[in-house]
This record gives sequence, C-alpha cells and structure tokens, in this order.
Amino acid sequence: MGYLGRRQAKGILLEGLRHLEYRGYDSTGIATWEGTDFSVVRAVGHLDALIEKIGDLEICGTAGIGHTRWATHGAITEGNAHPHRSCDGKVVIVHNGVVENFLQIGTFLGAQNYRSSSETDSEVLANLIAYHCAKEDGAGGHSAFLEGVRRALLHVRGAYGIVAMHVDFPGEMVGARNSSPLILGIGDGEFFFSSDTAGFASHAKDAIFLNDGEMAHLVGGDFSICTLSRERVEAARRAVEWREALVEKNGYAHFMLKEIYEQPTTLRNAMRGRFSPDGSGTHFGGLQMSTRELLQIDRIVFCACGSARFACAIGEYLIERIARIPVEVEYASEFRYRNAPLDKNTLVVAVSQSGETIDTLSALLEAKRKGFRVMAITNGVGSSIAREADGGIYQHAGPEIGVAATKTFTSQVCLMAMLAIHLGRLRDLSCEDGTEMVDALQRLPSLVEEALELDDAVRSVAEKYAHCDHMFFLGRQSMFPVAMEGALKLKEVAYVHADGYAAAEMKHGPIALIGKDCPAFFLACDGRMLEKIQSNVQEVRARGARIVVAVCGDDRGVSSVADDVLILPRSHDITQALISTIAVQLFAYHMGVLRGCNVDCPRNLAKSVTVE
Ligand code: F6R
Repeated sequence: MGYLGRRQAKGILLEGLRHLEYRGYDSTGIATWEGTDFSVVRAVGHLDALIEKIGDLEICGTAGIGHTRWATHGAITEGNAHPHRSCDGKVVIVHNGVVENFLQIGTFLGAQNYRSSSETDSEVLANLIAYHCAKEDGAGGHSAFLEGVRRALLHVRGAYGIVAMHVDFPGEMVGARNSSPLILGIGDGEFFFSSDTAGFASHAKDAIFLNDGEMAHLVGGDFSICTLSRERVEAARRAVEWREALVEKNGYAHFMLKEIYEQPTTLRNAMRGRFSPDGSGTHFGGLQMSTRELLQIDRIVFCACGSARFACAIGEYLIERIARIPVEVEYASEFRYRNAPLDKNTLVVAVSQSGETIDTLSALLEAKRKGFRVMAITNGVGSSIAREADGGIYQHAGPEIGVAATKTFTSQVCLMAMLAIHLGRLRDLSCEDGTEMVDALQRLPSLVEEALELDDAVRSVAEKYAHCDHMFFLGRQSMFPVAMEGALKLKEVAYVHADGYAAAEMKHGPIALIGKDCPAFFLACDGRMLEKIQSNVQEVRARGARIVVAVCGDDRGVSSVADDVLILPRSHDITQALISTIAVQLFAYHMGVLRGCNVDCPRNLAKSVTVE
C-alpha cells in the first residue's frame, strides 16, 4: 500500500491493509512521513498486532506506505517485516516479489558500505535505491529520486511490486512493477498504490494497472508514468468498483462459509448470457477466436496451480469426452521450464482465480513467446494474466476473501463444462445432447442449493473425524480431481495430512498407510463407475479404515459398507463433479473450525502467489 494526499495516511494504510488481509501474510508494518523523518512501525503476526503496537503512538503524516509480508527470504520476525529502510536512513520501501540476484547486489553494496540488517532481499533493494539516489544530481529534468529508483531497478533480476519514499524528496512517491502487480489509485487530490484495487477501492475513483517495467511517480499533486527506459506512458484509467457487501461476512461465521454458500449465485453469474439462443450450446464473448480457428484446435494444454489445476483436471475429462480434443493439464511451474513440444494447433489455457499467480503467468508468457495462442480463465478482471492472454473467459465470481479457493473453483469447473459444450457443438456433439447438457447446467445452481442443505449432516460427520491427522480422498474418473481438491482443502484449512488419489491406485502403494487412524472419504457419485468403486471401498475397509462416502441417487450398495454416508443430489454426468465438491468443501470447513484453525487465513498460505 502507498498513500499520498491531504488526509492522515495511517488510517488509510491500515484500512487498505485490512482489505488485503485475505491475500495471506505473517507480519505487517507501516511507515509515514512525519515532516522531518519517517515513522516506521512493524509487527509479527496479523494486523491487530500492528494496531496494538501502534496504540497511542502519534503516527502522523499525509504520506505513507504499508505492507503485509508473506515470508520468502528470512524468518517471520519484526526485523524482516516491511517497510525496510536503507542503512543511510534515506529510503523506505515496501516490496512484493523476489529479487533473485540479491546476493550479488548485497555484495556490491557491502563494498560501498551499504549493509543490510535483515535477512531479506527487500532491504537490499532499499539500499540499492539509496545508493543510486545518492549518486544522482537531478540533471536531465527527471526527479533525482525517480532516476535513482530507475537506475536501481535496471540492476534487479526477479519480480517486484514496490513503493518507495525518500527523506530528501518528501512530497514524492515512486511505485514500480515487474511480474508482481501494482495499481495506482487516483482519488480527489490524493493517490494510492496497492497490489489489488481492494486496498483503495473505498477511496479512489480511478485506477491504472501498471505494466511490467513501468514506474509511477507522484509529485506536486500529480502523477506520471514512464518505463525503465524513460519513455513516457499514457496509461488508460479504469473506474474502480467498490462492492462493500462482497468483502463483508454478512452474518456468516467465516468468509469461507459465506463463499461456499454464494456458489449458486456465482454459478449463475458464470453462466449468465453464455447460452446460445436455441438452448443447445454455449458461447463466450471474449475468446477472440473465429469458428474456423476454434475448429483448428487439435490439442489443449491447461496450465495452472493448486485448486485451479484440479478444475482443469475436471475440464480434461469433460473436454475429451464431449469435444473429443486431447487435453493435458500441466503444473504451470513445471511447464514453464520443461520446454514441452507443442504443435501449431495447440491452444494453451492459463487458469487462475487471481490472475496474478506468477507461475501461471510465466507459463502463459512462455507459450506466447513461442508464438502459441493463449487463453485465460480467470476471476481477476484486469489482472496480469487477463491482460497478457489473447482472449479468455471471466469467471464473474466476485472477490474471494477466504484464502482457500471455493466459489472460484466451482465457477472454473462450470466454465470447463461450458467450454467443452462450446467446442463439442462445433464438432460432433449433437443438438440433442447439447440441449441435455445445457439443461443440466441451468439446473446446477438449484442442485448446489440442495447440496448445501447437507451442511449440518457434514458437520456431524466431521465431528467424528476431527481428531484424525491423516485422511485419504478417493474417486474415479471426474471424481478423482474432486478427491484431490478435497484433500487440498483439508490440508489447507484443517492442517490434516490428506491425499487425493484415483481410487484404484490405492493398492499400488498408498494402501500401506490405511488403518484405523487413517480414514478414507470416497467420492462415489460417478454412476458408471459404482461397481468398480465399491470394490475399492471394500479393499480399504478390509484393512480397518473407517469410510465416509458421498453418493447420489442409486449407489448400488456402496453406502451399505460405509461408516458415514452423505447423500448428494443426483445430476447429469457433466455437473456431478461440481456438486460433489460441495461435500468436500463443507467437510474441510467444519474440520478446520472443529480443530480450532483459522479457516479464512490458514497459516503459511497466501491468496495471491506472486513468487515462483
Ligand atoms: C487452494 C488455493 C490455491 C490456488 C493456487 C492458484 O485453495 O487457493 O491452491 O488455487 O494458489 O491460485 P490462482 O487460482 O490464483 O492462480
């Protein structure tokens, strides 16, 4: 966060940081310009710890910067928290990202007597800026501060979103970005920086999303944007939307629960206006591909991380089955460096709720560099991934504050089904089958509402397993990614070691772990696989595990061999995976709450992962 204006910065910074809390962090801090010097306060832990530490301290000033840190270089300590101050006391800086060559820069600076006191790469950056500012004489019409920052950044390898202030340039502030988001908010005679519009949306009217290699300079009640090579940039402004209701809990105990319950609405929003008038297909406004180009696609490669990758894995089942196009799902972080051979008719699709995950963004850029068409599926309107893609589909799920993905996951799955139908109808999917699938999608929100009625039943089941420290989630076909998502949710919000497996794979190794202290949660909602999954349930049960099953409709006796049964609404095959997800989301949520975990902000996790 950064603020420069007429009002006191402290409250605005703390409010902004509060709205950025959902991104996940482990320490915080602010620095304000008090007229003669900076006041810097930092604290380990959450924002309340910082507020307590500030207490009655007179932290004045109408310019300031603030930060929530998710530790990369150096432990979670006050000394490593931001803002960092250069050793000559001149520069304060907040930094997201990683300076990859910080050791080399640190060695160089050490020789010039600029030494760090923390373990972070960010303090090195503060020193580097101070070093270059000290050498600047302001000649050439540029602010010496801006020029010092620019020269410093020319030496940096890695990712950064920074905001900096300098003692000798009290009315100025500089922000810059490379691979880590930074947005300039423009209010009435005041300016803001934030890595997400949520940081200033209640104050600013307009926003400018900086591009990589751009710097924004605030001075004299105005702003200018230029590149690292000093070219002036005329950036487009976007209106800032502030939807307070979406970032409040509205009576729910946690954001995670609220967002689980929002899913009927977010699914409606994902589908709105995207069915073809004859009701047999789907269409998307932003693909930027002609029918001819869509028909030429002979392979799809999805790149994503975490939950988004599991949504793609469900998409793989759907698209291969409905559109008969081969699909591969890649870990974005691996794809980027793997140099995978792709052929010219391959469509690369980056999927990311935030639109800022650096691994996914880098995979997209790598594919683009090689000349492939790249598409994005994202909830992040105006995000880096949305802007870099050639075309794409917005999720319209609204802000997701809980760190663990819930509503953004199901909206991605819904869009996967819609994309499969879209590509299928251009190929061999009949009008009749298309109509049946569209009908199934239209019924989906009310079926999800029905699934949510299981909430109390799921809580009762969770009460029985809340003491367990290990658990397997098992499923077959499209239930397999749901199993992986269930395991991920449980790890994240309940700190239970969990694994999601293809049910038949258990006997190839993991079954060695099964026993009375390691229960198994079976997703048995794929009608075609029920007999097979029944055998898998028996195999695990025979080894003493307690069994939870989620079933729907006629379960062919699977539930009779389970200890606990959750009965979900039965739907069409293309939507069953999505409906089954509700059970594992609720289960993870209740397990987390019962185990006393902070389900909205789990330890060690960040919502927007802007480091590799
Ligand atoms: C899981 C979760 C993470 C994200 C992953 C990718 O609940 O939230 O695994 O799915 O970090 O994030 P996005 O979708 O923003 O690229």
